Amino acid sequence: MAERPVVIVSNRGPVSFRRAEDGSLEAKRGAGGLVSGLGPLVAGTEATWIAAALSDADREAAAGGVIEAEGFRVRALALDPDDFALAYDVVANAVLWFVHHGLFETARRPRFDRRWREAWAAYRRVNEAFADAVVRDAPEGAAVLVQDYHLCLVAPRVAEQRPDLVLIHFSHTPFAPPELLRVLPDEQAHELLTGLAAHHACGFHCTRWAADFTASAHAVLGQAPPTFVSPLPSDPEDLAAVAASPAGRAAREALASEVGDRRLLVRVDRIELSKNLLRGFLAYDDLLAQHPEWRERVVFGAFVYPSREGLPEYLAYRQEVERVVADVNRRWATDSWTPVLFDPSDDFPRSVAALSLADVLLVNPVRDGLNLVAKEGTLVSTREAVLALSPEAGVWEEVGHTALRVHPFDVAGTADALHAALSMPADERRDRHRERLAVVRARSPRDWLDDLLAAAGA
Ligand code: G6P
Repeated sequence: MAERPVVIVSNRGPVSFRRAEDGSLEAKRGAGGLVSGLGPLVAGTEATWIAAALSDADREAAAGGVIEAEGFRVRALALDPDDFALAYDVVANAVLWFVHHGLFETARRPRFDRRWREAWAAYRRVNEAFADAVVRDAPEGAAVLVQDYHLCLVAPRVAEQRPDLVLIHFSHTPFAPPELLRVLPDEQAHELLTGLAAHHACGFHCTRWAADFTASAHAVLGQAPPTFVSPLPSDPEDLAAVAASPAGRAAREALASEVGDRRLLVRVDRIELSKNLLRGFLAYDDLLAQHPEWRERVVFGAFVYPSREGLPEYLAYRQEVERVVADVNRRWATDSWTPVLFDPSDDFPRSVAALSLADVLLVNPVRDGLNLVAKEGTLVSTREAVLALSPEAGVWEEVGHTALRVHPFDVAGTADALHAALSMPADERRDRHRERLAVVRARSPRDWLDDLLAAAGA
């Protein structure tokens, strides 16, 4: 079969820009799992990446047309800033993300008022702008790989004008089953699923989200498009390079001396409601209350970084997290021991260093599309870390059998699991770790890209 040209379409792109002191524009690798997984594969190829210009510097860089930077060919779209804010903050992050992750406490929210309808119209316009860019830029016969919940309405407009293209959608989130999707007004639920159904196929990180999508499509449209399942792998070489870099080595040394001979419990997350940070700290507090033998003998390193701070829910959540951490530290700290090491700086080498030194890795999301940290933590571990994992993370389907199960709402149960993880005999740790490492190493980011291209018939 002839290889099709590849076009990737995502809200957050593989490079971001900033204004250097001398006034020139400086390119930097973008953040996020999608870029770290897919970036190395796509860099240096002919593939085009279409993404939103997120900052003023991105916008300036975008003005010059297709950008060639860091090995990528990027078309950064300078969208109307008001439309973009409504589409990204109000629709994508404050509603669609909440719907797919079941985050609404429905006594008060959501409220779909007139402003929401305007925001939805803006979301549609942003999607149309992406569609127009695909129509204009995609080479003849390309496979167009559209990523995530920001871009559910791109396909119908592209399909109408470019029947030569094969459109694939991939969700990096869970997908709302019918009972969660019912929160969306009928009209928008219908438009959303019609948009997704206009793809050749829709992909997900695990079978559960694919089944939930199919059920929702049947409930709303009476039919469902083809689906496929392909969990994103993380790239061992990329991680090894970060760990071995001067910044990675320095971070490892600094952290090792900070922790000393204590056990290290680690989490690495965006400060994000679905990640369940609060219950994680409450469980740690309970662990220290129930098991005095761990006091002064363990440190909880929380490498968590701010996210989506344009949303009041996220700011409030961050404050609550910081309060709970301060409470735990106040309650248990001694002159020589700080129970929680809270690091809200977005420092990837430091996170990798923490993952490499961890004795226990806590991944307890309320609901999570995949969770790459569980894989990254396995790949870089030098201590055969025990994984305490929520079954609500998509990655559970791949590695759940090697992990200790933590029910995300069960704080006391999570404390028990942390105690079991910290106390696990060395041979059991090793067996579980080796089994997980084999699973995580079995697939590469290239396999994921190949799965998307296979779904496109490329
Ligand atoms: C999740 C989403 C991605 C998103 C990332 C970071 O992983 O699936 O699409 O890029 O979060 O969120 P942000 O809003 O900062 O792009």
